[in-house]
Amino acid sequence: MGRRLARVSQSATLDQLATRLKAKTARLGVIGLGYVGLPLAVEFAREGFSVLGIDLDPRRVEGVNRGRSYIPDVPSDDLLQLARAKRLRATSSPGELGALDAIIMCVPTPLRKTREPDISFIVAAGQDIAKTLRRGQLIVLESTTYPGTTDEVILPMLEARGLTVGRDFALAFSPERIDPGNTRYTTRTIPKVVGGVTPTCRKLGGLLYGQIIRTVVPVSSTKVAEMVKLLENTFRAVNIGLVNEVALMCDKLGLDVWEVINAAKTKPFGFMPFYPGPGIGGHCIPSDPMYLAWKARAHGFEARFIELADQVNRYMPHYVVEKIARALNARKKALNGSRMLLIGLAYKKDVNDTRDSPAFDVAQALRERGARVAYHDPYVPTAQLSGVTVRSTPLTSGQLARSDAVVILTDHSNVDYELIRRRAPLIVDTRNHYRGQAGRLARVVKL
Ligand SMILES: NC(=O)c1ccc[n+]([C@@H]2O[C@H](COP(=O)([O-])OP(=O)(O)OC[C@H]3O[C@@H](n4cnc5c(N)ncnc54)[C@H](O)[C@@H]3O)[C@@H](O)[C@H]2O)c1
Repeated sequence: MGRRLARVSQSATLDQLATRLKAKTARLGVIGLGYVGLPLAVEFAREGFSVLGIDLDPRRVEGVNRGRSYIPDVPSDDLLQLARAKRLRATSSPGELGALDAIIMCVPTPLRKTREPDISFIVAAGQDIAKTLRRGQLIVLESTTYPGTTDEVILPMLEARGLTVGRDFALAFSPERIDPGNTRYTTRTIPKVVGGVTPTCRKLGGLLYGQIIRTVVPVSSTKVAEMVKLLENTFRAVNIGLVNEVALMCDKLGLDVWEVINAAKTKPFGFMPFYPGPGIGGHCIPSDPMYLAWKARAHGFEARFIELADQVNRYMPHYVVEKIARALNARKKALNGSRMLLIGLAYKKDVNDTRDSPAFDVAQALRERGARVAYHDPYVPTAQLSGVTVRSTPLTSGQLARSDAVVILTDHSNVDYELIRRRAPLIVDTRNHYRGQAGRLARVVKL
């Protein structure tokens, strides 16, 4: 890379790109209009840029163009206003990519069934960009991926066009840190890490994000930027794994893990609270550390913390089922034939994202043991439970009273917990929603 820097200097077209970014006249594109791409596209459009969103899903394209949001953090009114002002438009065709000045890739990075990285979406989006790559374009990858993806996978595809990075076009990696459902920290206020293939790439990447984000954190390479994101999410996965293990230990020791954590967090330094739960879910925390473990393995290094945390976290849904079985047993009931009402299918509070949610593992394990499973989730009207389409059950006194146990898996804000408390014969509370009441209320069993 050092030799490359010595040979090339920024072209006039990249200078023009910088000018257009500062003047907010640059035409921007966002590939992948999901939980990450849509809020980002909206922020740039709000700032006055003309933004084109590209997504393979025709429902998402139509949603954006008609002002119908499918992401809870993005209000439909905002989409409508931006669409009317012709600031934000969506298409499913990559045909206009060549006309854009900067293109940000926000496509999924799931795991294969073998739990290895599946970067096929990044490759497909990169190929679309490569087909029409021209001088003066800035390309940024935001999808979470293993260190080396930008340099080793995307760069060769783009340079195959005969253009030189850092001189003719710019390439950067900037990890997305958005936390869906979090109203305190948003796209604009979360600092943005940017690494470029060359210093020019880093500078242009920083300039792009500096238009909408208060703090840009430049780092020395795309690999560092890729690794930053994996460190952040591995930190979460490992700490959640640790606290889940502590929860299992406390159960054996007859201690209330929540009381322990709440007292520990009064220490003003050197301790950061994490909370146990029915397992981890979503597109990031269960998968991202596996990207890192895979890359480390390719270099002959075994990421032991990651593997161990993964094992503990994946056991949690089964522990919840054991906890339910024990609670029923204490009431002389069996899981077999019992009616279970699960509260919250989404993987976390106040979002509609059910990807990899541990609630599905709980539901599956309950069904395997003969329980009859229904669910209530205001964000998830229908879902596939063990291959069958099921509708969210309205939360009524009758429904609650008919259940043998109500299991709180995700503690959305807009659920009537008071009604549950009054009517459910047994509550298994994996989120400590009824904090303080479990001891006094024999019907509430905590994790
Ligand atoms: N969801 C989060 O909270 C979060 C937070 C930080 C980072 N990330 C990372 O951001 C990336 C995107 O995640 P997401 O949750 O927004 O995913 P998502 O599934 O919600 O959205 C991705 C979109 O990309 C579209 N797409 C896929 N391939 C495409 C292609 N070739 N051309 C055009 N569109 C294409 C899909 O149709 C989908 O709408 C992932 O790498 C993820 O790990 C996600």
